[in-house]
Amino acid sequence: MNVAGTLRVPGDKSISHRALILSALAKGQSRVTGILESADVHSTASVLRALGVAVPALSPDFVIDGRGVASLGTPTSVLDCGNSGTTTRLMAGVVAGRPIGATFTGDASLSRRPMRRVARPLEAMGARITLPDHGGLPMTIWGGDLHDVMWQSEVASAQVKSAILLAALSGGVGAEVIEPQPTRDHTERMLIARGAPLVTHDTGVRLDELAYVEPLDVAVPGDPSSAAFFAGLAAIADGGSLRLEGVCVNETRIGFLEQLALMGASVTQVDARLEGGEPVADVIVAPGELRAATITAEDVPAMVDELPLLACLATRATGETKITGANELRVKESDRIAAVVANLRAIGADAEELPDGMIIRGPVGELRGRVTTHGDHRLAMAFGILGAAGDAIEIDDPDCVAVSYPNFWNDLASVTR
Ligand code: S3P
Repeated sequence: MNVAGTLRVPGDKSISHRALILSALAKGQSRVTGILESADVHSTASVLRALGVAVPALSPDFVIDGRGVASLGTPTSVLDCGNSGTTTRLMAGVVAGRPIGATFTGDASLSRRPMRRVARPLEAMGARITLPDHGGLPMTIWGGDLHDVMWQSEVASAQVKSAILLAALSGGVGAEVIEPQPTRDHTERMLIARGAPLVTHDTGVRLDELAYVEPLDVAVPGDPSSAAFFAGLAAIADGGSLRLEGVCVNETRIGFLEQLALMGASVTQVDARLEGGEPVADVIVAPGELRAATITAEDVPAMVDELPLLACLATRATGETKITGANELRVKESDRIAAVVANLRAIGADAEELPDGMIIRGPVGELRGRVTTHGDHRLAMAFGILGAAGDAIEIDDPDCVAVSYPNFWNDLASVTR
């Protein structure tokens, strides 16, 4: 299989959520272009609507008329976050700052995911929160009357950090968050661009008390986690190259692209520019003889969503790929350690589960079999790349890509020859 062409992947999911939330909390009109129109982002839009914000139907170019944090009111129904952890955790922070009560629900996968990691800091700020014994959803929050917090997070999670910063903004208090490792910083960048008194330091971030944020026009750049699938495809193709246009190359997000180059693929960034406070470039990827990779805890945050893909590509790389320090994969949309290893073995790869990661030995011959996605979009796309590259892979639920990349299969067909 050869690759050819130029592709613009959809808008970044993390930035799309934040563009909606911070535009809603701002005072004034924010224009948003290039937002990701996927199920997860629709979840954030509908939760904001349920809280009283007039969010128009998502489209490539629209305006949100923000009325400030005080415009949020008690919803008349539960806040259904679908499959979206980012919606739940970020909006939990927003609700915690206001004198309102709300219950968050989600699908079966989201309901199992850990929410104590956000509940604890929000309770430390003064919110009252109830969770079921298993620590997932439904989660009910009674917010308001917050006070300043200095929170040392045990997990490296941008969602936890963002929940605390958003609670500080909506509650009009200050917050400092210390992280074990740096995580994606889109919330910080967008808060600064909206005039917030936020400073970052070696181990974390501090936001001082503020009354409101400014409106901001946001051009959402391409999602590096979506671009990763095509970069991975180009890396294992027989020939050709792919140009991925307008990809966000924020250093907290491009660990996978850097690793792909270390493994032997040709990865070049061209036309680097700054758009709306985020670094953006076109990324050109061509095949190479891939070598195995070693991934440890400190590498994980910058490629956390790309690790299932890296594991699939490792079946084509020479040597033993070892991923450790990746416990967080167990609490994503599926248990991505168990599910990736089980699927790799089911299609004939040499893979082994570790408590906090996995081992994959390559290269192997043609892989063949059926992949069980557990409704996890990134599993469907990661194994879909092996299928596009020539392995005989059947995906049980190809439609689950709608969570982050509804047009994935069409885009995939358009670049393979
Ligand atoms: C996200 C943060 C990451 C990532 C998720 C999106 C965000 O989760 O896996 O897909 O937008 O903040 P964690 O914060 O749980 O690591």
